[in-house]
Order: sequence, then C-alpha cells, then structure tokens
Amino acid sequence: MIYAVVMAGGSGTRFWPKSTKALPKQFLNLFGSDTMIQETVKRLEGYINPKNVLVVTNDNYVPIVEQQLPDVRKDHIIGEPVAKNTAPCVAAAAAILNKLDPDSVMVVLPADHQITQKENFLDVLKSAVETAQTEDSLVTIGIEPNRPETGYGYICYDADKKLSKSGNPAYSVKNFTEKPDLKKAEDFLSSGNYLWNSGMFIWKTETILNAFKKYLPDVFKLTEKLQKSDLTQEDISQFYYACPSISIDYGIMEKAETVHVVPGEFGWNDVGSWTAVHELSEKDENLNAYGNTKVSIHNSGSNLIHTESGKIVSLVGVDNVAVVETDKAILVVNLEKAQGVKDVVEELKSNP
Ligand code: GDD
Ligand code: MG
Repeated sequence: MIYAVVMAGGSGTRFWPKSTKALPKQFLNLFGSDTMIQETVKRLEGYINPKNVLVVTNDNYVPIVEQQLPDVRKDHIIGEPVAKNTAPCVAAAAAILNKLDPDSVMVVLPADHQITQKENFLDVLKSAVETAQTEDSLVTIGIEPNRPETGYGYICYDADKKLSKSGNPAYSVKNFTEKPDLKKAEDFLSSGNYLWNSGMFIWKTETILNAFKKYLPDVFKLTEKLQKSDLTQEDISQFYYACPSISIDYGIMEKAETVHVVPGEFGWNDVGSWTAVHELSEKDENLNAYGNTKVSIHNSGSNLIHTESGKIVSLVGVDNVAVVETDKAILVVNLEKAQGVKDVVEELKSNP
C-alpha cells in the first residue's frame, strides 16, 4: 500500500502577521479557500486516499490538523512533544508504517508548498513511486533551478544513468548537497547537471529503515523500540526526546548511496515569502492581487493586499507593496524586501 506522510511540524515566521507560532504557514490559506496542508492532501486525490495519509506535527498543532483534515484518521495524526527536525519525523512514520504494513511505500511530503499543475505532479509522483519500488532506492523529485537559492538542497544527477521504465525518466544521483553557500550554489547552477530538491521523498518503508540503520544508527535503534511498543503517546514522546535534532537532508540524503531523482515540472513553489504569494496569486491588469478584499486602487501596481476584516483598502500611488492585516497587527512591506519580515518577528520575540 502507498501511504503519504505529511511533515507539518515546521514553525516558519516569514508570513507574519498571518503566521504565528500558534498558526504557522502550513495551516494558512494564502491563496484561496484551502489551507496549504489541505491542498497537500487534496492534490493526492485519485491516487492516495486520505485514509492512507499520516500527518506528523507538533503536539500543539494536532487539534488544528484534526479540524482542517477531518478525513484523515485521528490515529494517523502523530503529535511530537519536541521539534527534532525532519529525520525523526520520517523515522517515526517509518516505524509506525512498518508495523502496519511492512511492504508499504512512503510518499513523504512537506505541508507548505504550492503546486499549480496537479495532473503533472501526480504523473511524476507515480513514476517516483515505481522507481522506489523497483530500485530499492531513495527517490526525490527534482526541480529545474532558476537562481542560486541557498535555502534548498541541490541534486547532482548522472545524465547517462537514466531509467525510463516509467513514464518520466529517473536519474541516478551522484551527490546531494543540502543548503550550499552562495558560491557553490552559483557553481551548481552554471554546471547544468543539478536540480533543486523539492523536499518530497519516495521510498519503501523497508528501504528508508535500512538507510537509518546505516547512516543514523542511534535513530534506527529507537525506531526498533518504537515498533515493539504499543505506540502510545508516551512511547512516541520517549522516541522524540531520545532522538537527535537533524533534517532528513543532512542526516540521510547527503550520505546515501542509492538515490534517484525524477525531474518534475508542475508549477512548484515553496512559497517562502509574501513576494512568492504575490507572484502566485491572481492579479488584475495592474498586477495588484487582493482576492475578495474591497479595494480602491489608483495609480498603483504590483501590490498584494491580504486582509480579512472586510474594511476597504485603498492604495494611491504606491507600487510593490504588501499590506497584510489581521486582528492583531498590520504589516506594510516592500515586496522586494519581504525577507526582512523575520526581523519584525525577532524584535517582537524580545519585546512583545
Ligand atoms: N513533523 C515535523 N517536525 N515536521 C517538520 C519539522 C519537525 O521538527 N521541521 C520541519 N518540518 C516540516 C515543515 O513544516 C515542512 O513542511 C517540511 O518539514 C520541510 O521543512 P523545512 O524546515 O521547510 O525545510 P527547508 O525548506 O528548510 O528545506 C527542505 O525543503 C527544501 C524545499 O523546500 C529540504 O528538503 C531542502 O533540501 C529542499 O530544497
Ligand atoms: Mg521549507
């Protein structure tokens, strides 16, 4: 059986004031009526049933997941007592799935990405699943890079080692570099044989457990203990407290030998800032995006308005600005400098 494992424990702050520690990005509706995590599960429709979805999130977010994803079984929503990054999240899911179905395949997905071409995505995903099944390999989905982004993983693939049994080619991966510095990222981009890691991973449960055994043996031992337990909240808590904090990218993907990548083009965006929300939103002829908000806009272009209060928002003679309003705060930010929103969050942390 194919299971989706949705990683939803992140606590990003780049979408302040809409995102907060209590309600991070994956639980926000930045584009329409569905939240990012709802879209993540919905886009699997026709391939992976919500009954076969596992969500791994922080304990505090379990009620939000239950409310936003009523079709996911409550016993498939795993609450972490502490955030230990993505390797323990994957390891816990693998232990639980191995107990449930030792022949299972895991489709590991971030909960906070945007994908505009769902059919293409499912087509690529199916090929990745097929590759994981036939090659006993750790499979990722790769995205053609267009800038030297240092926040992503880079995959160097061997263009001569191509499997094309499935609809989309899968390439053997030479090496995986997580979050390189700018110099390296620029080199990778100009060399041409690199793809971005989309953060989606596909593997047989058995294959990833073997990889843990080899590359993170302490975590592997904890998965064995977890599998022998009754999977109570106490058992899960013990597992997490004992785990190191490490991402799957650094902990496994950078070290693993048998890795494949299926390149995919399906309008992928990891929606890292208000600028990305503007890019991805529907816009009027002057490139202003405002959803259903009542607006009065004059002589202004390329702006984003995100409010829920029902108040009229008026812009006169301003360009490239985001206006975001919640019941607690109003943000006005230059869309060319939207990464700076994290400075506000830092400041408010020490001086709320
Ligand atoms: N359950 C759980 N626990 N989930 C977590 C935790 C955790 O402690 N930490 C992060 N997550 C979730 C996030 O909510 C997100 O959905 C996903 O795991 C990935 O975590 P990020 O923190 O967003 O990772 P990243 O963006 O820095 O890097 C990853 O994604 C890039 C693409 O967006 C890497 O896989 C990169 O290689 C990749 O390029
Ligand atoms: Mg991310």
